[in-house]
Order: sequence, then C-alpha cells, then structure tokens
Amino acid sequence: MARSSPLSVDAIRKSLVTRWVGRRIELRHRVGSTNREGVALGQADAEDGTLVLAEEQTAGRGRLGRHWFSPPGMNIYASILLKKTLDGDRLSQWLSWLPLMAAVSAAEAIETVAGTNVRVKWPNDLLIDERKVAGILCESGTSARSGPFQVVGIGINVNSLASDFPDDVRKTATTIHQQTGQQIDRNRLLVHLLQDLEFCLEEYLSRGIEPITLAYQRRSATLGKTVKAILADGSEFIGLAREIGFDGSLTVVRRQSEGGPPSELSLRAADIIHLR
Ligand code: BTN
Repeated sequence: MARSSPLSVDAIRKSLVTRWVGRRIELRHRVGSTNREGVALGQADAEDGTLVLAEEQTAGRGRLGRHWFSPPGMNIYASILLKKTLDGDRLSQWLSWLPLMAAVSAAEAIETVAGTNVRVKWPNDLLIDERKVAGILCESGTSARSGPFQVVGIGINVNSLASDFPDDVRKTATTIHQQTGQQIDRNRLLVHLLQDLEFCLEEYLSRGIEPITLAYQRRSATLGKTVKAILADGSEFIGLAREIGFDGSLTVVRRQSEGGPPSELSLRAADIIHLR
C-alpha cells in the first residue's frame, strides 16, 4: 500500500494554535522510542510541552512492559513532555489522571478527523468497534535542575493495515484506515490531538477533576460492562465495572452469580477484558 504523506513540522505549525503544547517539535525519522527521547529531553531541561515525533520506532514501548508495533511512515508515535509544578496530593492526582486525559483528548481528535466513534477501555485504550486503535503510555522522570516531569506517549494506528499487525495483536487491534477506508492526514490529526490535549490539561489545572471525570465517563466503553480484570500477579477477578474513582481507579463489583461472595475491587492497574 502507498505510504501516507510524511509528517511535517511546517504543516503542523501552519495550523497549530496551542499556547504551549507542541510549540517545540522534534521530528525524527527513526528512534527506539519517542518516550525514551522525551525522557532524555526532560532530563536536559527542554521546555514544557515539547513534542517528540517519529516516523518509525524500533523499540516502541507499550503498557505492562509490552512492545508497541511501530512500522514506518503510516502511524503516529508522539511523546509530549510536561513540566507542571504541583505538589503532594495534586501531583499524585495529576499522575493518575494524565493517561486518562490523554486518552479522552486522542479520542476527540480521532473522532473529529476521521468522523468515527471512539470509546475508551479503562484505563486508556482507544477502541473503534471494540478493537484497539491507539494506546497511551505515561512515564515520569526528574531533572536535576528543573525537577519532576512527565512524558505522555501516544501511539495511534492510523494508515497501516490491520493485516500488518503481528499475530498476537491481529485479532484485537485495528487502524483508523481499516475501520473507515480513509487515508488520514497525520499532520492534521496531530494538530487536533495537541490542541485537544492542551485544552484538557488546562481545564484540569483550572477546574479540577470534575470536567475530565464527566468527559471520561461519557467515552467509557468499560463502565456498565461485565469485565475480566487480570491483575499484576496473574490472578483474575470477574465483575461489573461500576465506577471511576477520584483517583482514576476502576471499581469492579463481583456478583454472587460470578462465583464466591459479593465483593469489590478498586483497580489502579490491570488488564481489562470486556466480557458482555
Ligand atoms: C499501550 O500499550 O497501550 C500503550 C502504547 C503507547 C505507545 C506510544 S507510541 C509513542 C510512545 N513511545 C513509546 O515507546 N510508546 C508510546
């Protein structure tokens, strides 16, 4: 299939109206991981909102230690450096909500550009028709001079073909092209992504978690579903996904019919499978 048109800093700058997200753009042809580059830029005191983009990743990082499939010239691999000064409870809430805010922003951007419905599987997998089209990986670091920073990594399967995916994800992953038949202009999608992300982060910083909680709940593909949660130790918990907590956690309630006594778990990290 023909490559999609290249990523272009000029094309992005021409339309971008953000104040600080993506004001500095580092576009690379091939990197190990844009998140790793983002962490290095954070340690080197790069400015708040710096964006690292790559046409290809050779060691793309996914959640839970997984690999992120990152073929050249087709998709979006983006990492944004954030350097907000927050302390104590505010910092830990920010860290909990950052991946969820990135997920809502990316879902809005994809919906605007591709005109297709995008939902979020807790905590931050973006789904079209229950198939994963994008993922978020946030990492943190510290600069000796400017203190703590975060890197928000966003991978979107844009114009590649689902048949290109490795076997282990082919059944569950998809691309925007695959779902809509359109060749998507990646530069345009990035502009919307950066603008939506800046809006969402600023809204959180000025108004707290209420707006993002509502936006996240509206987009959730998980709330109200029976889910299987696979925990870090490999154990499983099946129940109804009931609510998102103030810290971004997911409460899953086990019904007696699922076996064992009724009980509930508040999850901070887990692999979620939607059952029904
Ligand atoms: C997931 O497993 O769902 C998260 C995937 C995150 C992938 C993106 S691609 C850009 C950034 N750089 C990385 O190495 N990972 C993230």
